[in-house]
Amino acid sequence: MTSKASLAVDPAFVVGPVRRRTFGSFVEHLGRCVYTGIYDPEAPTADEDGFRSDVIDMTRELGISTVRYPGGNFVSGYRWEDGIGPVDERPTRLDLAWHSSDPNKVGVDEFMKWSKKSGTEPMMAVNLGTRGVQEALDLLEYCNIKGGTYWSDKRRENGAEEPHDIRMWCLGNEMDGPWQIGAMTADEYGRLAARTASAMRMMDPDIELVACGSSASMMPTFGEWERTVLNHCYEHVDYISAHAYYFEDEGDLGSFLASAVDMDHFVESVVAAADQVRAAKKGTKRINISFDEWNVWYQQRAESKPPTGDDWPVGPVLLEDRYNVADAVVVGNLLISLLRHTDRVHAASLAQLVNVIAPIMTEPGGRSWRQTTFHPFAQASQLAKGDVLRVAIESPTYETKKFGEVPVVDAVATYDAESGEVVVFAVNRSLTEDVTLDVDLRGVAGVEVLEATSLSHPDHTWSATADDDTTVAPVANASASVADGRLTAAMPPVSWNVIRLGGAR
Ligand code: AHR
Repeated sequence: MTSKASLAVDPAFVVGPVRRRTFGSFVEHLGRCVYTGIYDPEAPTADEDGFRSDVIDMTRELGISTVRYPGGNFVSGYRWEDGIGPVDERPTRLDLAWHSSDPNKVGVDEFMKWSKKSGTEPMMAVNLGTRGVQEALDLLEYCNIKGGTYWSDKRRENGAEEPHDIRMWCLGNEMDGPWQIGAMTADEYGRLAARTASAMRMMDPDIELVACGSSASMMPTFGEWERTVLNHCYEHVDYISAHAYYFEDEGDLGSFLASAVDMDHFVESVVAAADQVRAAKKGTKRINISFDEWNVWYQQRAESKPPTGDDWPVGPVLLEDRYNVADAVVVGNLLISLLRHTDRVHAASLAQLVNVIAPIMTEPGGRSWRQTTFHPFAQASQLAKGDVLRVAIESPTYETKKFGEVPVVDAVATYDAESGEVVVFAVNRSLTEDVTLDVDLRGVAGVEVLEATSLSHPDHTWSATADDDTTVAPVANASASVADGRLTAAMPPVSWNVIRLGGAR
């Protein structure tokens, strides 16, 4: 007999608004993300600025909101001034983070052009590894001051008459990681973040600032890092960052499919650490989370190892994971977790956008295609509107090696008061069984199924290629129907499911 998972949709139980910034991504000068990724003058699809229009189109199709730039580990050794002015006069530099070379053909002005073309909001990171307060201020002046000063006039000379007007700024990257250039203790970083943030706000009081949280929840200093850093900079920042990457351990698909259990726990732990500082400071302001790196990433695979020795290539093949159906289901489930925490996760970035652990892939100078993970992201980004609802799931469970007993089904729902539409996003983590989703529509009487899709495949190891990126994509799920105020839908094993309901008015 098919098992059943139940939940209830009631617009009275709101977690918080769906935030566009939940659907951000990340472009780092890493591997082929920039060179032959967003920028590839040799590609037939390149526009007048050398940007790939196919990548721009797919970025729009994904519904990407913010894009974090230029790193990542790269930013901790970056001199932003190398990337401005006449392109043929720019220096080539060693990128120590990824043992590569950067010819600086793309810098802040090019990125801002790309941002406009792709309809995305920039989220700029400053280098707090090899640099400090002054260089962060110079970059802010270059980007956000109208004119009449050294750096703002340089920007105008370089062709950008109007300020770039960048709202979100990251104060460094993963400064707790021993791999980070200029890694620091929590006290050292917290003080530097406070000094940098307060000086940046003196120049532009309206910017939003992200302090570095831990680079992973398994870091030995996790929790204590957040507490110490925020103790120093609580008054000066708006967000603390969170980063998490998941992968399937050989033969442990069950735990991998439950990765969102870990993300839920991670978010709740960072919230607890931030609120503990708030309590100690007897303040009212809340620090929210910028989950500005998350994805599936097979870090142990050969392609994740940077070049070595005398080999310092430009745009090498690095971190080019090929995603399968199970990876897509996990990405969908991680989005469910981010949405479920919309009260405290106010921004998030799928790391990264193109070629490097990415939903979009390109051939240098050639074709491009959508990975399996493209689909859940695009659907959630396009369809989640209005408010996120608390849905109280009752699901059968299964035992995992990493997380103990976990629910087979995970889900979230959104409700748009304007259109009256409800969207249910759900995953079935069972490796073998269909599960019936049974939704009590008590708060939205009269709705009907407008659209229902599932993404699955009998072979969950199937991956897209340049020759075939359509065999696995969301397809209509004819089993979804509404009767007597309840929605039922069959969800295949290892599947991502979306059901849009409406039409009650
Ligand atoms: O996204 C890839 C890398 O992962 C980033 O450069 C770094 O911040 C993280 O460790």
